[in-house]
Amino acid sequence: MMLDISGLYASLMHEVKNTLGLMSITLDGVHPTGDPEHDAPLNETRLLCQRVAERLQQALLLYKAVNGQLSPMVDAYSPADVLGELRDEAQALVRDRLKVTVRIADDVPLIWFFDRNLVEMALVNAIHNSIQYARDRILLEASLDDGALCLAVKDDSDGYPEHILECVRNDQPYRSQGTGLGLQFARLVAQAHADRGREGELRLTNEDGAVFRLLLP
Ligand SMILES: Nc1ncnc2c1ncn2[C@@H]1O[C@H](COP(=O)(O)OP(=O)(O)O)[C@@H](O)[C@H]1O
Ligand SMILES: [Mg+2]
Repeated sequence: MMLDISGLYASLMHEVKNTLGLMSITLDGVHPTGDPEHDAPLNETRLLCQRVAERLQQALLLYKAVNGQLSPMVDAYSPADVLGELRDEAQALVRDRLKVTVRIADDVPLIWFFDRNLVEMALVNAIHNSIQYARDRILLEASLDDGALCLAVKDDSDGYPEHILECVRNDQPYRSQGTGLGLQFARLVAQAHADRGREGELRLTNEDGAVFRLLLP
């Protein structure tokens, strides 16, 4: 008998993803009591759950890439809605440890064309990074940059290490304490969004903290 390995693999990953979703919902039902001995491990567990979900999302994407299915499914979305939803999720995740805000520049169109899944995945990873490193605040921002939609995640951390900035500038792989997959996926997601010969771009800088910019033509 021939086993359909790749089919099994895909259903395994979906099963884990669904279970994680249930775990997340179950955890959200445990309310903070104000007692740090209770609340600290609870909050830590919620963050860990999100981190595993993010890794799984990356594994699914790698799987798609390996199977040649990583072509963006572009549709019309509201940048303000996308950032608003990500803000709410992030704020719920950190409770009152950090303040997460959204700013939409006046010239940003009501809709833009992109693959919402892919773009959200890149942004969620950037947000989770900021949650890990920010001191007090995270700003999610949409603006127009030379005719491209710029979605940014800005924080007040110490900023990206120099070697990461260097590697991303030079389009090279890099090593980090973690897997270093997140930012490299973001670059893939940016590059998968091409329009009239123009490719998307991942731009990392240090300003008042780390600034992650995803430019979508
Ligand atoms: N907001 C941030 N502030 C400071 N450093 C960051 C930030 N985001 C990412 N980094 C650095 O970049 C590295 C790579 O990030 P990423 O690609 O998401 O991989 P991972 O999170 O698995 O390490 C992180 O390990 C960290 O050193
Ligand atoms: Mg990361």
